Amino acid sequence: MTLDHPTPYYLYDTGLLQRTLAAIRAEVADHDNYHVHYAIKANANPRILREIAAAGLGADCVSGGEIEAALNSGFAAATIAFAGVGKADWEIRRALEAGIGMFNVESIEELEAINDCATSLKLRARVSLRINPNVGAHTHDHIATGRAEDKFGIDMEDMVPVIRSIQAMPAVEFTGLHFHIGSQLLVMDDFAALCRRINELQEQLDREGIFAPNINVGGGLGIDYDTPDAHPVPNFAAYFSTFKQGLRLRPGQHLHFELGRSVVAQMGTLVARVLYVKHGKQKQFVILDAGFTDLIRPAFYGAHHAIENLTAAEEQRTQTETYDVVGPICESSDVFQKDVLLRETRRGDLIAIRSAGAYGEAMASTYNCRPLPAAYFASSSC
Ligand code: LLP
Repeated sequence: MTLDHPTPYYLYDTGLLQRTLAAIRAEVADHDNYHVHYAIKANANPRILREIAAAGLGADCVSGGEIEAALNSGFAAATIAFAGVGKADWEIRRALEAGIGMFNVESIEELEAINDCATSLKLRARVSLRINPNVGAHTHDHIATGRAEDKFGIDMEDMVPVIRSIQAMPAVEFTGLHFHIGSQLLVMDDFAALCRRINELQEQLDREGIFAPNINVGGGLGIDYDTPDAHPVPNFAAYFSTFKQGLRLRPGQHLHFELGRSVVAQMGTLVARVLYVKHGKQKQFVILDAGFTDLIRPAFYGAHHAIENLTAAEEQRTQTETYDVVGPICESSDVFQKDVLLRETRRGDLIAIRSAGAYGEAMASTYNCRPLPAAYFASSSC
């Protein structure tokens, strides 16, 4: 499934997106109190946002721009959760005026800014507190977020005093607790550890006579980057059942999830063309017309994406060679993968970099005055 367009471009499989959304819906269908918010940061392509909004998911936003994108794509304001350690005054104002569902607040300083803004607008802000649960996670250091040393959230010891101060703020209403321990998590025990921590914190709230109407467990479910065709739809059953079994919700409590990567990663492929195959003294390099400006994950996190030579597969070339697959940018980190075994590769071949639907297009840049990659859509049936 490729298209005859100038490269590089993202190709999105909307059929797979629909199957992924259906799998999520099936897991939460019997739970009226479960709410899945799509983490817009993973991919804010307007067409993808419209399909996700139409499937009934809410939105998890981290900037005024994402709130705008969510509203423009049909997400109802009441389904928007607004997170982030540094919300600017204009973003708080915009969120309040739009009537978003809730702020996920990360510090007492932010709480005061929201109270001031809501007071001046004569509005009431609904706020959940992001608690740092000090739970480690089996993932890359850059995308683990729930440890005591990370910048995110309010310390557990401060939870009750901060809730008490909210109760004294006239323009702020306490709506619950928010957590997020990290991203690309494949070990369900990490989420089980989060459940245990939330249970402990809820017991503490019970003792204080405090009810948290909403528990938001964040996102983080990982996907299979190594063999995407084996697992095109992530294991949502294992993920949701970890929370169904592990969390002791109180009567009337709502449970929120903020999934990003697991919703959109497998639907996206970055398609690039081979500019040159360079035969060095020690290495052979496949030099693509895509670079880290189009997909930064390998350079930034050492992330692995499966790489395939589409032209060679179509022509049924059987010989294989080992290559470093690199981009054209003038930095030595512009490498998609070293020592990849590919079918014999030639100038002009089309290369697919798989599982690129999440944090791909959304993190693209114009460094080196390169244009942003285009996006096209096609639909596979199954
Ligand atoms: N909620 C919060 C508060 C978050 O910070 C994130 C992601 C999510 C939800 C969604 O997490 P997901 O379900 O996608 O794992 N650029 C990195 C990932 C950064 C994730 C940041 N926060 C990457 O390419 O791996």
